[in-house]
Amino acid sequence: MLGLTTKYGSISAVRDVSLSVGEGEVVGLIGPNGAGKTTMLGTIAGLLEPTSGTVRFEGNDVSGYSPDKMLKAGLALVPEHRRIFTDLTVVENLKVGGITVGSAERSSLLDEMADLFPVLREKWDTPAGYLSGGEAQQLAIARALMSKPRLLMMDEPSLGLAPVLVDLVFELIQSLRDQGRTLLIVEQNATRMLQVADRAYVLRSGEMVAEGSGTELLERSDLFDTFVGGTSS
Ligand SMILES: Nc1ncnc2c1ncn2[C@@H]1O[C@H](COP(=O)(O)OP(=O)(O)OP(=O)(O)O)[C@@H](O)[C@H]1O
Ligand SMILES: [Mg+2]
Repeated sequence: MLGLTTKYGSISAVRDVSLSVGEGEVVGLIGPNGAGKTTMLGTIAGLLEPTSGTVRFEGNDVSGYSPDKMLKAGLALVPEHRRIFTDLTVVENLKVGGITVGSAERSSLLDEMADLFPVLREKWDTPAGYLSGGEAQQLAIARALMSKPRLLMMDEPSLGLAPVLVDLVFELIQSLRDQGRTLLIVEQNATRMLQVADRAYVLRSGEMVAEGSGTELLERSDLFDTFVGGTSS
């Protein structure tokens, strides 16, 4: 993505922000509340239109694509607040996620998700509205994986989860990384994110203030206030 700016009305939520994600890389996007992280992901995923700048994916200019078209192009987003269809069962949610792939491939992807998410396999025919927060987050991620994305973006996957489930989310990110998947992840949990990320970007008030490898940024104690928005835990 090159120099993206996205405005709400006349206010720029992100200003001339550039970031890139290489194939097989796990990249974090961190920063305090209101920094523009969700806006950035929404712009890349086609939910918001940039006022200037381009989104490039695998050499093509995909700026202005609708979210559907982005999904077909290989970019999937797990949005904030894990939006899943609560009236549909777990497996039905997954099938919806796999709507862009053929039916033979869809059933092998379902098997893959059952292996990757044993908790979901146990609740295959349960309406998603009955899932716990942690299960629902896994379902949201699994549903996105059903589209076979070549770039998977997640917005605050650990938000609102109990500590043990936060651990589970980060273990999952680690195993997706081990599978060689390409991930761009927004997290408030900056330290944990930097521990699993190859690289990360730090956004503050709509501007990129730092970038580097996970280990480099972990050593930047001067940035801790920025990472976590004022506290240094
Ligand atoms: N729909 C909207 N209309 C107007 N302003 C918005 C809208 N959504 C976000 N904003 C503003 O844009 C800025 C960036 O918001 P954004 O949600 O992208 O931040 P964020 O980094 O994801 O924050 P958080 O950590 O709270 O999720 C904020 O100042 C926010 O108030
Ligand atoms: Mg956000």
